[in-house]
Amino acid sequence: MTAGSRVVAPASGPLRGRLRVPGDKSIAHRALIFAGLGQGRARVRGLPDGADVRSSLAVMRGLGLQAEGEGTDLVLRGAAGRLSEPAQVLDCGNSGTTMRLCCGLLAGQPFLSVLTGDDSLRRRPMGRVLAPLAQLGARVDGRGEGSLAPLVLRGRRPLAGGRFVGAVASAQVKTALLLAGLQAAEPVEVVQPGPSRDHGERLLRAMGAALDEAGGPEGSHRVAVRPGAPLELVDVDVPGDLSSAVFLLVAAAIVPGSSIAVEGVGVNPTRTAALDVLRAMGLSLSVQDPALVGGEPRATLRVEGGARREVALRGVPVQGPAVAGLLDEIPALAVAAAFAHGATVFRDAAELRVKESDRIATTVAMLRALGASVEALPDGLVVHGSGGAPLPGGRVDAAHDHRIALAAMVAGLGCAAGAQVDGADVVDVSFPGFPLLLEQLRAGRPT
Ligand code: S3P
Repeated sequence: MTAGSRVVAPASGPLRGRLRVPGDKSIAHRALIFAGLGQGRARVRGLPDGADVRSSLAVMRGLGLQAEGEGTDLVLRGAAGRLSEPAQVLDCGNSGTTMRLCCGLLAGQPFLSVLTGDDSLRRRPMGRVLAPLAQLGARVDGRGEGSLAPLVLRGRRPLAGGRFVGAVASAQVKTALLLAGLQAAEPVEVVQPGPSRDHGERLLRAMGAALDEAGGPEGSHRVAVRPGAPLELVDVDVPGDLSSAVFLLVAAAIVPGSSIAVEGVGVNPTRTAALDVLRAMGLSLSVQDPALVGGEPRATLRVEGGARREVALRGVPVQGPAVAGLLDEIPALAVAAAFAHGATVFRDAAELRVKESDRIATTVAMLRALGASVEALPDGLVVHGSGGAPLPGGRVDAAHDHRIALAAMVAGLGCAAGAQVDGADVVDVSFPGFPLLLEQLRAGRPT
């Protein structure tokens, strides 16, 4: 076994347990980054301890944000829009959300900032954020004609207003432009081909921002921010990350007879499309104990696995506008599909090619390495399911992508020879402790 490899043995019996997953990354990034514009003090509870959110915290501290405490609970003192010029290059690590949101924040700060990241992040497209910020008056540059990090920004105060019609439904781009708009003299309007996760809008509204939101023609989505309202920090209690919980739901789905409950998971409707797909595949999945905490819904997700092979999942088409709401979950859903009856076709998912890895290529490679029959499409993939039979298993390269590593470890439970996942440590980006949690579920011990 090479360093950083993990061997996942085939499941020898049902998975059982009640557990929690780390806090939602999207909400956590926003709580930290929005504190750059708000005033007052607030507590953030339930931050995930993964590397991505630690990148946001380190970047914000590098800009002078005061954050007391370490770990999952912090007290923030808002910078009220007066951050300080960082003495160092700001390292966003593996986190696209950190880099794109901070571009929007820094566009309105009248000093020089340089942002960089790891090999993966330095390959990801940043022009979709930088080009509109330049139109608002920020001076921006980067490698590849301003499209790749390292990025250099010299912000302007105040920014101009504007209207931007984007080609992709991206919450990162939308939130970055809203952050710029809060630092503009005129309204900033963002139009995207469809809705995307709305954690930014929810938190900004709670902080006192003036937002107008509406659906547009052909399913498009429009949100505008009017500058001027002072923002006040609010306490944030971060729910569990549905994108992490889905790996456990799929684990329970492919191991017959499993019964698990994941508590306190964020079930914001812009995030739950993957649950609909799992139900359409035939999984017995219920949403229990719903609650609204700080403007974000949360619930317990319970899976009752089938007792027999005959009730294995079935393949379904996954395409159309709903796909924007489950892109992060496709590696996990593809694992469920690999054990289903029939084919599952994922389309309209070309954005997967510019995630932490080219997730169409890496999901296909991961499943093929375990013996599944899979084909790549330009905008998705076709997974031919095993009909509930175990896959042979084998050795997988995590491709420096946390969601590929997590998906491979889950798939290993359903493989005759299990899975060896090389580079599995990358799960620490979003889900430290995942291997231990799997072992606990295997042992049937509640956590
Ligand atoms: C995120 C938005 C999504 C998602 C990413 C987190 C966010 O990306 O894939 O993991 O927190 O705004 P896009 O904005 O690129 O769609």
